[in-house]
Amino acid sequence: MNPYNIAILGGGNLGTAIAEGLLKSGFATPAQITVTRRNVERLALLKEAGVTVTSNNAQAIQQAEVIIVALKPYNVKEVLEELKSHFDARKQLVISVVTGVSLREFDAILPAGIPIFRAMPNTAIAIQESITCLCAQQATNAQVNYVTDLFNQLGVSISIDEKLMDAATVLGACGIAYALRFIRAATQGGIEIGFDAKTASLIAAQTVKGAAELLLKGNRHPEEEIDKVTTPKGCTIVGLNEMEHRGFSSSLIRGIGASYHKIGS
Ligand SMILES: NC(=O)c1ccc[n+]([C@@H]2O[C@H](COP(=O)([O-])OP(=O)(O)OC[C@H]3O[C@@H](n4cnc5c(N)ncnc54)[C@H](OP(=O)(O)O)[C@@H]3O)[C@@H](O)[C@H]2O)c1
Repeated sequence: MNPYNIAILGGGNLGTAIAEGLLKSGFATPAQITVTRRNVERLALLKEAGVTVTSNNAQAIQQAEVIIVALKPYNVKEVLEELKSHFDARKQLVISVVTGVSLREFDAILPAGIPIFRAMPNTAIAIQESITCLCAQQATNAQVNYVTDLFNQLGVSISIDEKLMDAATVLGACGIAYALRFIRAATQGGIEIGFDAKTASLIAAQTVKGAAELLLKGNRHPEEEIDKVTTPKGCTIVGLNEMEHRGFSSSLIRGIGASYHKIGS
């Protein structure tokens, strides 16, 4: 059982999804979680679930051992500057899910020696199916294990070098949009060949889920699975090759590259 109080600063999309995931997984009790935002009435559902909701960041920080920062990149430094005196390096650790703000930048604001983690989840965290990439500084093995365990309740977590955080943002967080556009396009194709939109969407989404599970649970290589369904002279290989002639893999790779260059610019 998680022994710590957890404060989530910035109860927006990601902050509330993390709180919901921690509750649903049983990792934390409602009494252990505090979520903050200025428009606190938007946190009514969490409040109903027994979570403490407040606009008082200072109090939330003082009462927690684990502080998850889920603010927007544009105001996070300003907000933390105002709050830095409320952190305690001896008993707290900080986890930032903020895109593009480095461990060094947090370290420059927060009290010396405080353990800081960066986490890059995606929106599937709301249903405990995120891939979350983690890196840390000034953290003990026990703290690393604790944070890994926390994000494992919300999907799967892996440890990466901080220099790969932008790449993790593109492949994991932006990746949700790429995958959904694939499903949407497949749905449109499905409608063209005869299904109503709802049925086509279900078939497309469940097919993608099944394909992913073949890799994740079956530990297979994608091409090995593709070979199984591409009968010589069959309809799958004809369609797949037509997609490739039209730039299927190439456009995905180019898109990932474009997102990566944008994030770094
Ligand atoms: N969404 C994703 O897929 C994703 C994935 C990975 C990482 N991230 C990162 O996660 C962070 C949050 O993203 P998001 O999509 O959850 O954004 P969001 O929905 O805009 O959430 C940010 C929240 O911060 C609150 N806030 C602003 N100023 C505050 C203050 N002074 N004190 C307390 N709360 C304050 C805002 O609510 P009020 O206006 O009511 O205060 C807002 O609800 C961003 O840095 C983003 O880059 C997002």
